[in-house]
Amino acid sequence: MSAHPIIQVDDLDVYYGTSQILFGVALSVRPGETMALLGRNGAGKSTTMKAIMGLAPARRGRVMLRGCSISGLRPHHIARAGLGFVPEDRQIFSDHTVEDNLVIAQKKGPEGQDEWSVRRVYDVFPLLEPLRHRVAGRLSGGEQQMLAIARTLMGNPVLLLLDEPSEGLAPIIVQRISELLGQLRGSGATVLIAEQNMHFCLGLASHATVIDKGQIVYSATIEELKANDNIRQRYLAL
Ligand SMILES: Nc1ncnc2c1ncn2[C@@H]1O[C@H](COP(=O)(O)OP(=O)(O)O)[C@@H](O)[C@H]1O
Ligand SMILES: [Mg+2]
Repeated sequence: MSAHPIIQVDDLDVYYGTSQILFGVALSVRPGETMALLGRNGAGKSTTMKAIMGLAPARRGRVMLRGCSISGLRPHHIARAGLGFVPEDRQIFSDHTVEDNLVIAQKKGPEGQDEWSVRRVYDVFPLLEPLRHRVAGRLSGGEQQMLAIARTLMGNPVLLLLDEPSEGLAPIIVQRISELLGQLRGSGATVLIAEQNMHFCLGLASHATVIDKGQIVYSATIEELKANDNIRQRYLAL
């Protein structure tokens, strides 16, 4: 495995107004890894994702994408540099069809990567194909989440960031999305998933980083986390 992380976050401090939300957050994701950023509600997962994407201002620290700083860049430049973000609210075009959402999002990656096409999306997300002419706003929550992920992949990102992809979805759909993400990992994708639902991540992530009260408290392989009752009970039990 390559020694150079795709993304490396160092010493990140983020404030909302005068309240400090993140305290020296550090994490890194290497090529082909699926990193779960785990923590309870309010721990700072979304803020970390937003800080990486340039959507929350970091007062200190830096974010390196394949060795180059992206700190201070605007969100659309960060996206163009190869970070594909699926936010909690998914942000699909609800008035457009499934297929239009995919076509609109199609662009090459930062080095001209173009492995994602509408055809490949339908191969990987077979549930979306029969819905191709359906208006996205009419889809179920699970279908919308799949579309949001698929749409982001159409931009050929070097890192896919997912904020709570399992949130609010029925268990059967959560299972489907977990399988899809497992399949993406198998195809070599590099993924950072923020989740409160540890069980969703245990079967699909390769690594885990745990955040609590804005601080990273643990980082290891997923097998090590599975074996660590103390950390799971202390920071991840509901
Ligand atoms: N826009 C905001 N303004 C002020 N405080 C916020 C804002 N967004 C989040 N927070 C606070 O920051 C902390 C971390 O939130 P967040 O990153 O959303 O946590 P998580 O995604 O882990 O649930 C929480 O205490 C939350 O109340
Ligand atoms: Mg969140």
